[in-house]
Amino acid sequence: MTAQESVIGHDEAGRNRDLAKNNLIVQPNRVELVQAAAGMIAAASLISIDQRGAFNLALAGGSTPGPVYELLAADSEIDWSRCNIFWSDERCVPPDHAESNYRLVRETLLDRLPHAPALVARMEGELPPEKAARSYEQVIREILPAQESGIPRFDLVLLGLGDDGHTASLFPGSESLQITDRLVAADYVRKVDAFRLTLTYPLINAGRHVLILVSGASKADTLHSVLQGPPQPWKFPVQGVHPRSGQLRWLVDADAAQNIRQ
Ligand code: 6PG
Repeated sequence: MTAQESVIGHDEAGRNRDLAKNNLIVQPNRVELVQAAAGMIAAASLISIDQRGAFNLALAGGSTPGPVYELLAADSEIDWSRCNIFWSDERCVPPDHAESNYRLVRETLLDRLPHAPALVARMEGELPPEKAARSYEQVIREILPAQESGIPRFDLVLLGLGDDGHTASLFPGSESLQITDRLVAADYVRKVDAFRLTLTYPLINAGRHVLILVSGASKADTLHSVLQGPPQPWKFPVQGVHPRSGQLRWLVDADAAQNIRQ
């Protein structure tokens, strides 16, 4: 399947806006999407470690990335001793809770590795949410290299897309969409009736690579609205993901892309 390198969207005036910078890569099915995602993350790790001596990676939760993490665990080329593992978001639950994104990564990746990564920086979902957010931001600022802007830079931020347009735990209507002066936020999310921890736009958009995985027909309408509809980031928060100098790539399967007009 040749990669579709760009899609055409419409800005507020309805003018065509070439989203060429939002590379859309369509895989035939979920299995090939998972394989492509693992390959892209492994490749990014090799380049980051070769050029900068470390790979700073933020992982997503949800149901899509688990099989990607299982493939990464089996990839002998990745030097985990140079990898710092972070999360893009977390549910405010203990680390052994069924809803925990840390537990997802522990079961599909960490427990399967021959040796531990250099750093596993867990979001402490068991703490009071705001305390956990402030603590995580401090860890990020200590570990990641900061840019001239003062904002730390991940080598790769992995994200998903909810059918309501959320990404990480940046949900429609949530206050964390407005945050410009913090890297990590704690938010009560009405839709799930729970507190969540999430990286904020400033930190996500400082990323060197941002990879958004989208699988399944249930996401087709949302993906079309996000990529080919007008910018409405308050309604579709993933539209607020615009790496300032990094690369954004959408890696989707054919079911999710079925409504995308070529
Ligand atoms: C989470 C995720 C969330 C996820 C989307 C897509 O904590 O749930 O970080 O942002 O990526 O909801 O989830 P699926 O992969 O299950 O479609």
